Amino acid sequence: MQEEIMSAKNQAMAQIMAAGDATELEQIRIDLFGRSGKITGLIQRIKEVPPENRQQVGILINETKKTLENLIAEQKISFKENAREWFDPTIPGIKKEVGHLHLITQAIADIQGVFERIGFRRARYPEVEWDWFAFEALNMPKGHPARDEWETFFVDTPENFRYGKMVLTPHTSNGQVREMQRVKTPPIRMINIAKCYRRQSDASHVPMFHQFEGLVIDTDISIVNLKGTLDYFAKTYFGSDRKTRLRPYHFQFTEPSFEIDISCGICGGKGCKVCKAGWLEMGGAGMVHPNVLKAGGIDPKKYSGFAFGWGVERVLMMQSGLSIPDVRMIYSPDLRFLTQF
Ligand code: DAH
Repeated sequence: MQEEIMSAKNQAMAQIMAAGDATELEQIRIDLFGRSGKITGLIQRIKEVPPENRQQVGILINETKKTLENLIAEQKISFKENAREWFDPTIPGIKKEVGHLHLITQAIADIQGVFERIGFRRARYPEVEWDWFAFEALNMPKGHPARDEWETFFVDTPENFRYGKMVLTPHTSNGQVREMQRVKTPPIRMINIAKCYRRQSDASHVPMFHQFEGLVIDTDISIVNLKGTLDYFAKTYFGSDRKTRLRPYHFQFTEPSFEIDISCGICGGKGCKVCKAGWLEMGGAGMVHPNVLKAGGIDPKKYSGFAFGWGVERVLMMQSGLSIPDVRMIYSPDLRFLTQF
C-alpha cells in the first residue's frame, strides 16, 4: 500500500507539472480527489490496512494529499501570472464610461449663457433665506393671503427681530431686493438661478426645483423691454419660430403682472393635442412694484424695472424634441434615463 501511494503521488506530480492550462489542471484535480478519484480511493482503503500499520499509512496518505493540493494551487497561480505576462497590448482596451454634467446643470448653463449675451449678470442668493427677502420685501406682509401660493418650509430657528423667520426660499424672487441692495444705483441686469423648495410632489412638481429670475432696473424701463427680452429668450432657447404672449395676472411684487405663454413648438400656435390651445404656460413676470423698489432702497420715481421668474425644469421639459413625462425622473439616479442627455 505504501508503495502504491508513493507511485500514485509521483505520477500525479508529473501530471500536474505537465498540465497546459487551468482546465486541464481541474481535470487532474477531479481525477485525484473527485468521488471516484485515485487518492480518494486510497483513503477509502485505509481500513483494509492491518491495524499496526494503519497510522503510518494514514500519515503518508495525508501528506500526499496536502502536497498534491498545494502543487495544484501553485500551478493555478502560475497560470494566472503567465496569463498576465502574455497580455497582448495591441488588443483594444475596455473603454471607461465617462460621465457628464447632470441635465439640470446643463440647462442652467444654457439659460445663463442666453442671458449673459444680452448683458445680464449671473447672481446667486441664499437658499436658506429670511422671510423678509422671500416675502415681506416683495410686498407680502406677514399674514398676507398671497403667501399661501408658496407652500413654504420654515426653518425651526429663532426669529430675527428685523427679518423674521428663516425659510427655504420658495422662489428666486428673494434675489430681487438682495441685488438692489448690492448694486445700490441702477442699472441692474440680473439673472439669479437657484434651488427653490416647496411642499409639493407630483408628476409636474418636486419639493426641490430650480428657478431663474430676471431683474432689470434702469431709467425708462417699460413693458416693451420685458416683451423684447422674453421674445429673445424664447427664440434663442427654444427656436427661432417661437413667440411669447403676455396674459394679465396678479403678483404682489409686480404691477402690472403677467403670465407668459410660449407658442407651442409642435403646432406653431394653431392648437394640438399637446398644447390644446396653441400656447404653453411658462411662468410669471411683470413690472417691479414701487414698494419692492423702495424695499431695495431704489427711488421708484426715478427708476422702473421688470422681473420674471420661471422654472428651469419646466423650460427644459418644454424644449422641442424632449418628452419627459414626469419631472421626478430628472432627479432619479436611473442611468438609463440620465445617460440619454
Ligand atoms: N416668484 C414667482 C413664483 O415663484 C414667479 C414670478 C412672477 C417671478 C412674477 C417674478 C415675477 O419675478 O415678476 O411663482
